[in-house]
Amino acid sequence: MANRQRRVLVIGAGGQARDVRFVLDQLRTAGRPFTFAGYVVSDLAQLTDRDSRRDVVGDLSFLRAHRDRFDALALAIGSPDVRLQVAAALEAEFGPDMWPALVHPSAILDWGTCRMAHGVLLCPGVVGTVNVVLGPYCMVNYSCTLGHEASIGRGCVVNPGANLSGGVVLEEGGLIGTGAQILQYRHVGRGATVGAGAVVTRDVAEGATVVGVPARPMPRLRGPERD
Ligand SMILES: CC(C)(COP(=O)(O)OP(=O)(O)OC[C@H]1O[C@@H](n2cnc3c(N)ncnc32)[C@H](O)[C@@H]1OP(=O)(O)O)[C@@H](O)C(=O)NCCC(=O)NCCS
Repeated sequence: MANRQRRVLVIGAGGQARDVRFVLDQLRTAGRPFTFAGYVVSDLAQLTDRDSRRDVVGDLSFLRAHRDRFDALALAIGSPDVRLQVAAALEAEFGPDMWPALVHPSAILDWGTCRMAHGVLLCPGVVGTVNVVLGPYCMVNYSCTLGHEASIGRGCVVNPGANLSGGVVLEEGGLIGTGAQILQYRHVGRGATVGAGAVVTRDVAEGATVVGVPARPMPRLRGPERD
């Protein structure tokens, strides 16, 4: 499998999907065996002008009807809740091996001690150190930093420029806004949201949304509003 070209279908067609395509193109340029094969969306009727309609090959039924047209899948969905739902459904159907970890060539971690699950996406300029744990389907966007022993749970989305200090734990389905700072050993509960630019000085409860400096809770939010 190591050197065989893998045609990758990207699930999503918006801005994050174009980011994933960019990573795939850069990996290909660097000699890694990945080729962009198109975008797939859950509902063609919901496409907007912000989506890359031209490269959409179909909806999820395409995956069943054209199993010969792809070798791998990549998630490009910004909402952790939706990410987790889509990943669970497609993993049940196509298995975990269908989801390669996609690591931009400029990302730096101590690969010897890092634990990386399937479906991970590391964007350009991610820098981390030792014993970092990256759970299935988590996404770390460009220019984020991950301190020693930082742990990112299943389906988490870490937006550009966020800094996770050493020992930070993000439980499943967390969303970290762009430029957020999370201080050392803080724990961010399952499904919690940290707003853009927040400085997290205390643990964040499950499902909570925190914003500001220092971060304080907002009323509970669920669903697409977290984008
Ligand atoms: C925290 C967040 C999830 C709240 O989303 P929301 O419920 O749609 O929030 P709204 O835009 O309705 O704002 C509600 C209030 O919170 C404030 N607010 C929103 N986000 C805030 C933030 N990050 N920090 C401080 N205050 C914030 C708004 O100013 C508004 O205050 P007001 O009622 O006094 O005007 C969202 O603003 C956020 O930060 N998401 C992360 C976005 C991101 O990382 N984008 C990068 C994508 S690559």
